[in-house]
Amino acid sequence: QVAAASGHAVVLVDQSDEILKKSTKGIEESLKRVIKKKFADKPEAGAEFIKKTLKNLTTSTDAASVVHSTDLVIEAIVENLEVKNKLFKTLDKFAPEHTIFASNTSSLQITKMANATTRQDRFGGLHFFNPVPMMKLVEVIKTPMTSQKTFESLVDFSKAVGKSPVSCKDTPGFIVNRLLVPYMMEAVRLFERGDASKEDIDVAMKLGAGYPMGPFELLDYVGLDTSKYIIDGWHSLEPNNPLFAPSPLLNKLVEEKKLGKKTGEGFYKYK
Ligand code: 3HC
Repeated sequence: QVAAASGHAVVLVDQSDEILKKSTKGIEESLKRVIKKKFADKPEAGAEFIKKTLKNLTTSTDAASVVHSTDLVIEAIVENLEVKNKLFKTLDKFAPEHTIFASNTSSLQITKMANATTRQDRFGGLHFFNPVPMMKLVEVIKTPMTSQKTFESLVDFSKAVGKSPVSCKDTPGFIVNRLLVPYMMEAVRLFERGDASKEDIDVAMKLGAGYPMGPFELLDYVGLDTSKYIIDGWHSLEPNNPLFAPSPLLNKLVEEKKLGKKTGEGFYKYK
């Protein structure tokens, strides 16, 4: 959405036409929210902006057949290294020489994905934040093999889509998640110990620390499955780090498919 809105030709790829239809509808809804503010007193200009943005957007269910026309691939699929590597290996065969590959992973090592391809110097991380149309930050990740030219292209692209890039080495969680995920897990542990209710913890962090959402609201917003993927991955890397310890409550909710806002229930219930 943000790439198409800033004038880039985008091919959105997913597994089925049904998902793509849902995604396109989500983008349209989000664009309507964007124009409400951006073109508050010029509704025609807003409608034109949506039309132009959607014109920049096409969809496909076959990444290998569309990658030949791309300068940049941004992968944002399931947080599973094997699945990601399989995709990158395939795309590497069909993409032009100059095409840069980037992963939007929250917590997996970019270097391990780059090593699945023959373009380690044209591979980096581009980590966006939910909700992407609103959050100004992008973390640009440089592995030891990412070339300076690739890094600069990723920084330039981030600016071209209207974001503020920061850079970080290829370390677990980069900057934001390395601080945010342990904080959210500490909130779950505080609740699990019975020290405070989740409602009070959320109110406390909003009114006492100025956060726009409390940790439980944010966990539900990000998705409990995503949060579990992240913490489980880090726990297996550093089993003795108490900040990365799994939570029985989080595990139980994920097992019950209560994944947060997207499934209608997580720590809270949604209509
Ligand atoms: N698309 C377009 N606009 C959106 C939007 C979307 N998906 N979601 C919210 N907005 C807009 C609304 O239209 C509204 O615009 P307005 O000011 O013109 O009315 C504005 O954002 C504020 O939205 P709301 O009034 O509905 O609600 P809030 O004031 O609570 O803001 C929020 C919503 C921006 C999501 C805010 O609560 C927030 O910043 N929350 C924290 C988000 C956060 O921490 N994200 C990072 C998560 S970690 C992550 O993503 C990393 C990953 O790897 C796990």
